[in-house]
Amino acid sequence: MRNSIGTSETSMNGTSLDGALLKVENLRIAFRTDEGQIQAVDGVDLTAQTGRTLGIVGESGSGKSVSTHAIMRLLPGTAVIHPDSSIQFRRKDGTVVEITQLAPTGREMRAIRGGEIAMIFQEPMATFSPVYTIGNHIMEAILAHEEVSKQEARERAIHLLDRVGIANPSRRVDQYPFELSGGMRQRAMIAVALSANPSLLIADEPTTALDVTIQAQILALMRELQEEMGMAILFITHDLGVISQIAHDVVVMYLGQIMERGTVREVIKEAKHPYTQNLLQAIPRLESLGQRLHAIGGRIPSPMERPPGCPFHTRCPQAMPGVCDKAFPETTHFSPTHEVNCFLYEGS
Ligand SMILES: Nc1ncnc2c1ncn2[C@@H]1O[C@H](COP(=O)(O)OP(=O)(O)OP(=O)(O)O)[C@@H](O)[C@H]1O
Ligand SMILES: [Mg+2]
Repeated sequence: MRNSIGTSETSMNGTSLDGALLKVENLRIAFRTDEGQIQAVDGVDLTAQTGRTLGIVGESGSGKSVSTHAIMRLLPGTAVIHPDSSIQFRRKDGTVVEITQLAPTGREMRAIRGGEIAMIFQEPMATFSPVYTIGNHIMEAILAHEEVSKQEARERAIHLLDRVGIANPSRRVDQYPFELSGGMRQRAMIAVALSANPSLLIADEPTTALDVTIQAQILALMRELQEEMGMAILFITHDLGVISQIAHDVVVMYLGQIMERGTVREVIKEAKHPYTQNLLQAIPRLESLGQRLHAIGGRIPSPMERPPGCPFHTRCPQAMPGVCDKAFPETTHFSPTHEVNCFLYEGS
């Protein structure tokens, strides 16, 4: 039922979501550039469920950020979402909106962005303005979506800082972002994101810049907050090791397409796709923590020169000439939740 909803700002009942909070179907995003068109995302399906975390994993350039920016309608003007793409989201009042049909800066999208879908990023300093205190940022986020007094917003800000594990919150609330350590800033950014009680939290590599101990603490905090607040999380990372600590379900992306999906157990313990198996072997060891993954042989092709067929075939140790370079493989199901797109399994 794609794009049959008509004009923007319209809603329908939630039956097409099958109980999910968010359903992304056949998402295709291209960028117009001087050198030509870049197909950054090519037919991605994602589902987010309340109380669950979907990990989105893949190397640099696989389209993880672009896909989630489309959900927030934060793409630049050069991006084109294909008209067959659908992003359905269940609002807090129970109505379902087709996000691709909303005006990015319109009233409904502004209410959803920040209010119902919030985002945290790898680099908190990109979110925080250096001239405002941590408290200003949280209060602004609260006041943008709720009619409460400034005093009440301030009290909520202090409570939120306390909740995300920042000691002495009534003093910290008046401090500037640069006065906080990296881990504390990341906690403060989570407080900003959670200030409007979102039903969906998108986390784009939120722990990549942190050392491994702080990273583990932030992941534990996110799990705890999810249990308490029941939101759905889309968690982006290039590290399957992090996925195993935070996600319930996983999709593995490569050059704008999904190679494998399943529960975290299925994808980590029973990985089928050679790309997933390579990512697992590339889980950062102690000596390389904090670096980006480069352990898989061969270069990631430029999206301007997407390989035909399965895009991974140019680097795949098990590629079959004449097969893998001809068409994208059909989906093979290993369980109701475990799916792989790879010719090694087609027809099995
Ligand atoms: N504004 C843009 N103009 C042109 N191409 C873009 C733009 N933004 C992203 N892309 C391209 O879209 C593709 C997907 O990018 P995206 O940022 O989603 O990757 P990613 O999976 O988030 O990677 P990373 O792990 O490095 O963050 C890349 O090839 C990127 O170069
Ligand atoms: Mg990214």
